[in-house]
Amino acid sequence: MRRGAGIIAAGALFAATTLAQRKDGVVQWGIQRRQPPPETYTRVRKRASTFEEIITNEEARGGYFATCRLGTPGQDLTLQLDTGSSDIWVPDPTAKVCSKSGTEGCALGTFNPDRSSTFKVVGQGDFDINYVDGSSSKGDYFTDVFQIGGATLQNMTMGLGVNTDIAYGLVGVGYALNEAIVGTTQSTASVYPNLPVNMVKEKLINTVAYSLWLNDLDSSSGNILFGGIDTQKYKGDLTRINILPTTQGLYTSFAVAMTSLIAVSPSGQDTLTSKAFPMPVVLDSGTTLSYLPTDLALQVWKEVGALYSPEFELAVLPCDMQNSEGYFSFGFGGPSGPQINVSMDELVLDLTSGRAPVFNTGPYKGMDACEFGIQNFSSAPYLLGDTFLRSAYVVYDLVNNQVGLAATDFNSTESNIVPFPSLSAHIPSATIAPDQSQATIRPSVTTPAYAASAGFTDSAGVNGSENAACGLPPAFGAAQLSVVGLSMVFAMLGSGMFLL
Ligand SMILES: *[C@@H]1O[C@H](CO)[C@@H](O)[C@H](O)[C@H]1NC(C)=O
Ligand SMILES: *[C@@H]1O[C@H](CO)[C@@H](O)[C@H](O)[C@H]1NC(C)=O
Ligand SMILES: *[C@@H]1O[C@H](CO)[C@@H](O)[C@H](O)[C@H]1NC(C)=O
Ligand SMILES: *[C@@H]1O[C@H](CO)[C@@H](O)[C@H](O)[C@H]1NC(C)=O
Ligand SMILES: *[C@@H]1O[C@H](CO)[C@@H](O)[C@H](O)[C@H]1NC(C)=O
Repeated sequence: MRRGAGIIAAGALFAATTLAQRKDGVVQWGIQRRQPPPETYTRVRKRASTFEEIITNEEARGGYFATCRLGTPGQDLTLQLDTGSSDIWVPDPTAKVCSKSGTEGCALGTFNPDRSSTFKVVGQGDFDINYVDGSSSKGDYFTDVFQIGGATLQNMTMGLGVNTDIAYGLVGVGYALNEAIVGTTQSTASVYPNLPVNMVKEKLINTVAYSLWLNDLDSSSGNILFGGIDTQKYKGDLTRINILPTTQGLYTSFAVAMTSLIAVSPSGQDTLTSKAFPMPVVLDSGTTLSYLPTDLALQVWKEVGALYSPEFELAVLPCDMQNSEGYFSFGFGGPSGPQINVSMDELVLDLTSGRAPVFNTGPYKGMDACEFGIQNFSSAPYLLGDTFLRSAYVVYDLVNNQVGLAATDFNSTESNIVPFPSLSAHIPSATIAPDQSQATIRPSVTTPAYAASAGFTDSAGVNGSENAACGLPPAFGAAQLSVVGLSMVFAMLGSGMFLL
């Protein structure tokens, strides 16, 4: 893992982004749905203030993908949506990884610059992005026409992945300050308007904000809504909490203060503690699993009977645990802040794309093994990826530096889209979490009673009493190991230190 990749030198001074100075677009209420023909689109464009793109849950690739169109004439590519990074990049057909066949190769599409009349190199050799999981992409920065969700950007800056080990491109929608070029040049002068900023600049949406609804693990798609919220996609209230700046006062990642974690099951509930509370966690759609500090992860694993497998370097558990009635309640922004409950059926994932590996020894001998959705990291910032995000409706407001959180309304087929009315408007329908200053309080670290633990396993029909006694790592047949590799960590962490 190259967690330091792309670090911005401490002390580098960043001017405030120019977002707040941008002229506000004409305020109109209207919805541009997905994929109208480009011709008719040009005419209705001025009325639109939100754009919705369906994102497909590609479980075999561990992420959410959107279909985009690049160049003139348009070339269609399916790209992974990533809130943890800030550049759009696409694989070049000559990239080595694309010479492999089938799903190992670039089956989701490549971009051939020679076939686009509007392609223009703007930074030769300047594109160089490194993600937390060690994967990378390098090549030129270029501008071209880019279309997503019915929106067309005539002059979008993107990276061309000529040297990359990733077989598909990404749409990074994070803060412009976290663009790979800023890390490379160590200078804000090189910031370019990335996708959400460019959409405002082109008056397609009113402010730099979007909402993400990933929906159920078992559902094949969710959506991203640029410029608005959909009040039919969540339950209860939408609550705003502050995004944490870095120690230099900069906003580079969607880091928020996670301030509590409670395990709840039919047998009771436990407040889990950690030396790291209150902890910065990055809400990252480009990360398949979620990563908490080891002291906290160990408690979570004990509650559900998950075992750390040194073979897989992952916490694993019986697949039957997806039937458990237990859930985890994540708290943010202090004791009065929003809580998101994540049930076990969202936290038990296939370990491989083929037949599940079977526990060879130990308490779960003979049972199918699955990957647990909560894993461990040794240092901050921690990451809440798709296994958390599916249970939350998240609105990202990059102008006021806030996120709106609510419980997701799984499988909702209704829609009521409310655009942000103007630049720097607050998230519609959302109330601010009170007393966020209390988010900095460090709770005392105690050992949980594990009152919930029996209920987690019993309700799934997995023998709980025996699990607790077992400290041995689970074993699997060696042949089963080669097929793993479905979890990505597409985050580009500009700086590891958040002010909290
Ligand atoms: C296209 O975008 C780039 C990067 O933001 C900018 O430097 C350039 O002037 C733009 N070109 C046009 C024609 O708008
Ligand atoms: C949502 O739909 C999927 C099928 O598309 C189903 O498997 C799942 O149980 C549903 N989730 C809820 C919470 O109803
Ligand atoms: C989440 O769980 C907590 C703790 O059990 C509970 O108080 C709260 O009502 C739950 N929230 C939702 C939206 O179900
Ligand atoms: C996760 O926890 C396991 C078990 O305690 C430990 O062996 C491993 O090194 C930890 N991984 C990280 C990244 O901290
Ligand atoms: C559960 O574990 C207990 C204690 O080891 C054992 O006596 C019992 O037979 C087990 N039950 C099942 C269904 O495996």
